[in-house]
Amino acid sequence: MKLEGKIALVTGGTSGIGLATADLFVREGAQVVVVGTDRARLDAAVARLGVRGMAVQADLRRSGEVDRVIEAVRERHGRLDVLFANAGLGRAAPLEAVTEEQIDEQFGVNFKGLFLTVQKAAPLLGQGGSIVLTTSFLNAVGTPGLSILSATKAAVRSLARTLGAELAPRGIRVNAVSPGPISTPFASKMGLGDQDLTAMAESVEAQVPLQRFGEADEVARAALFLASSESSFITGTELVVDGGLSQV
Ligand SMILES: NC(=O)c1ccc[n+]([C@@H]2O[C@H](COP(=O)([O-])OP(=O)(O)OC[C@H]3O[C@@H](n4cnc5c(N)ncnc54)[C@H](OP(=O)(O)O)[C@@H]3O)[C@@H](O)[C@H]2O)c1
Repeated sequence: MKLEGKIALVTGGTSGIGLATADLFVREGAQVVVVGTDRARLDAAVARLGVRGMAVQADLRRSGEVDRVIEAVRERHGRLDVLFANAGLGRAAPLEAVTEEQIDEQFGVNFKGLFLTVQKAAPLLGQGGSIVLTTSFLNAVGTPGLSILSATKAAVRSLARTLGAELAPRGIRVNAVSPGPISTPFASKMGLGDQDLTAMAESVEAQVPLQRFGEADEVARAALFLASSESSFITGTELVVDGGLSQV
């Protein structure tokens, strides 16, 4: 049990990587609060997590809703040991087609929402606390059509270093987990047609040295390592889980 008695907050914990991680955290002994926007997915997550799970519906782009999430954690548990700031989305568009709304939406969730979550959760974390941010292999490679999504993740990579430095004196570690292509609903929400989606998946898969998409649970296990005391002397780093795509 790597998280026995710990309290964890998992944003985007209702689907894909976040849900797999919340599930693993519960199996490792934690009590977990998950956040998402969709009511049905929140209910399904709580049903899966059982008595040690709790869900809060919030759109993390709004500061007041982040406050509400943190207040719910404070009321229920009084403190926090682990924050997995993982909620995110992406929109695909070539340079000439990127809209202001797409920029605001992606930076709103992936960067601003994540930043506000860390800022407002930090007072609940104490000595030994661990913050894990979800970045992406996209922050290390150039992928046509994904300029804004990739930039949001580069910004989050930067945050792991800066906030790692800011929070280190309080004994709080900040690291990132960087997924490669992972089988989740993420890509299906990017605004691509079925044909483009299939073509993108085939092209990405062909580039992965391990020759497949990863599973959400494979990222969850990396997040668990960074969340737990197994990584007690590691801060500011990024653990890449991408089958070698951005690394070899
Ligand atoms: N899958 C991949 O290939 C891949 C690769 C690299 C990085 N990542 C990163 O991994 C993270 C998780 O993605 P995933 O693949 O697990 O995707 P996913 O299955 O689509 O899950 C995304 C999660 O984020 C939540 N979310 C989205 N917008 C939100 C908002 N405004 N407020 C609160 N919650 C919000 C969603 O909740 P609702 O559905 O209820 O809105 C959902 O729980 C993301 O940061 C993504 O960028 C994924």
